[in-house]
Order: sequence, then C-alpha cells, then structure tokens
Amino acid sequence: MKVTLIPGDGIGPEIVESIKDIFAAANAPIEWEEENAGQITFDQSGELIPQSLIDSINQNKIALKGPITTPVGKGFKSVNVQLRQKFDLYSNIRPCKTLPGVKTRFDNVNLVTFRENTEGLYAGLEIFDSKNGIADSIARVTVEGCERIVRAAFEYAKSHGHKKITLVHKANILKNAGRVFLEAGQKIAPQYPGIEMNDVIVDNMCMQLVSRPEQFDIIVTTNLFGDILSDLCAGLIGGLGVVSGANIGNDIAIFEAVHGSAPDIAGQGLANPTALLGSAIMMLRHLNEQTIADKIEDAMLKTLSVKEHCTRDLGGNSSTKEFTKKIIENL
Ligand code: NAI
Repeated sequence: MKVTLIPGDGIGPEIVESIKDIFAAANAPIEWEEENAGQITFDQSGELIPQSLIDSINQNKIALKGPITTPVGKGFKSVNVQLRQKFDLYSNIRPCKTLPGVKTRFDNVNLVTFRENTEGLYAGLEIFDSKNGIADSIARVTVEGCERIVRAAFEYAKSHGHKKITLVHKANILKNAGRVFLEAGQKIAPQYPGIEMNDVIVDNMCMQLVSRPEQFDIIVTTNLFGDILSDLCAGLIGGLGVVSGANIGNDIAIFEAVHGSAPDIAGQGLANPTALLGSAIMMLRHLNEQTIADKIEDAMLKTLSVKEHCTRDLGGNSSTKEFTKKIIENL
C-alpha cells in the first residue's frame, strides 16, 4: 500500500525516520512516497505546498505527516491548516488515553476530541486596518460545517461503542457562531438514541478537564477550542510527545501528531516519536491492518512502561534513536 510521507521540519525528520525504521522492522505492508512542504520546499522550489505533494495525496488518499513550522504573527499561512482545508479534512480526531507506565496526575483519562478542522477562527478571514489600529479575525462557521463534524463524532461513538458526547462551545458570548454549533448538536443528537449529549461552555470545560477528566468520553468542538483543549488533554497523559491525531475527510486522510515542530529540541536527538507512531498506528487501523497495528502498539506500550527506555520528556534518558531501537527489540 502506497502512503504519502511528509517529513516536515524541526523534529519532523527525526521522528519520521523512527517510524520508517519501526515499520520496516515490523514488516508493515506500507510503501512510503516521500514529499515535503513548508519553508524547506519553498527554499528549494519556491512552493510552500508543491504540486507533486498534492498529486501524491490525491493519488494515495492517505498520508502520514511530520510537523511543519508556521511563522508567528507574520509570514505565510500555516501549511498544516492549508492542507486540511485543501483536502477538506474536516474531522480532526485526537484520542487521549492514560498510558500504562507513564506517570501523571491522573490514571484514568480516556477521551477522544473531535475538532472541526476547516472553519472557525482558522477560516483565514483576517483584516488589519492599520490606519485606525483595528484588527479583525472572523470566526466563520457554517451550518453544514458544524453538522458534519457533530455527525462524525456521533458516528464514531456509535461504531466504537461510546455512550457520551460533550459538545463544547461559547454560545453565551458568541451568539451566532457559538449558537450555530450548539444547534447542530441539538439537531443531530436525537438521531442517535442511546448516546447521551451534554454541552459545556469552554472555560468551564478547561476547569473540569484539569480536575475530573474521567467524566469525559467524546468531546466535539470548533476549531480553535479543539486546538487548545487537545493540548490541555495532552498535558493530562504525559505531554505533547505522546498524543496522536488524524485529519479525516470523505475520501482522504492525513495522520499527524498533535504537537508542532518543537524548534527548542530539534536536531538534538531528544524528540519523542510516540505521538507520530501512535498516528501511524491509527493510520494502519484506518487501512484495516489491525494485526500489524496491534503488534506495533504492543511494542510501543511495552517500551513506554520502562521509564529509563523513554525519552527525556517522559522522565527517561533515551535518545530518539535508542527509544526506537527498544521498540524494535520489543516487536
Ligand atoms: P510544539 O508542539 O512544537 O512544542 C511545545 C513544547 O512541547 C516544546 O517544549 C517542545 O519541545 C515539546 N514537544 C513537542 N513535541 C515533542 C516531542 N515529540 N517530543 C518531546 N517534546 C516535544 O509547539 P510550539 O513550540 O508552539 O510550535 C512550534 C512550531 O510548530 C510553530 O511554528 C507552530 O506553528 C508549529 N506547529 C505545527 C503543527 C503541525 O505541524 N501540525 C501543530 C502545532 C504547532
């Protein structure tokens, strides 16, 4: 099976290397087609998202992606956001489950965030009126966009045996964008008997998550809230080095970790490849390669359960390469 592989930048190439080594050692039936994007390709060819990458994704329908740096407050629009919008990958799915052996404040977190991935404050509707010193960033949501992400969360709940969905919003203040999202939930929930839906305002949700995360099962929310809440959830189970994700549309899916390019540790052999490996395991499951996915996941969990084999972010002292080697030994 051919899969487009996007190394990205920062720690991206280091963790992508690790996934390639583990997949090769496990004899995973994947043939990688490597194409990159971002500043690296811009410097080489003048293209932030090369046509060859777009063609490869259109052809293969599945990609695994390393993180790509976005300049803060200036420069080009996020390549990550552009890819999600270009391929209409409206569901950003981020499972967050306590890892056995990784010690955190909680030992019972098991939730999945569904983040709307194409609209809201990421719509790119930004105006700066420099004469009057006024900046507008418009959170445009559509009824269709809200309904399809809510439906995707309910469909996932139904097919994976989940019983509870929490819709997170700010409809008390955002009387339009917030209300449209809340109404999408109120319209769709009755179509799924047996799955309970409640709604929580985002500020309260943050407090609830850091004090009693075990009360949540599936969370569905708009783009920016989903971005923030999923990083918060990462903190509940061991940090950004361990949280995986998938961007899924109707016929194309790009799998990537929740974290970014981590410029503070790039090139030092310190990056934890678990989050990207978990995303690659999600990809295998999406491709119905359950046996090989189980095999790699078992080896990953076994490795994570011995603290000294883990990378520094998890309190261990292994490098990216040493951690990868241990996973391969545990396969
Ligand atoms: P970040 O997620 O890159 O890093 C935040 C902190 O977590 C840093 O201290 C970093 O060292 C640590 N960290 C992240 N991943 C790690 C890993 N695998 N192993 C060990 N430690 C890890 O977030 P930051 O610094 O806000 O963003 C850096 C760049 O990444 C920015 O340009 C941002 O736009 C971009 N970004 C890209 C994303 C993507 O490609 N999907 C997602 C988020 C951010």
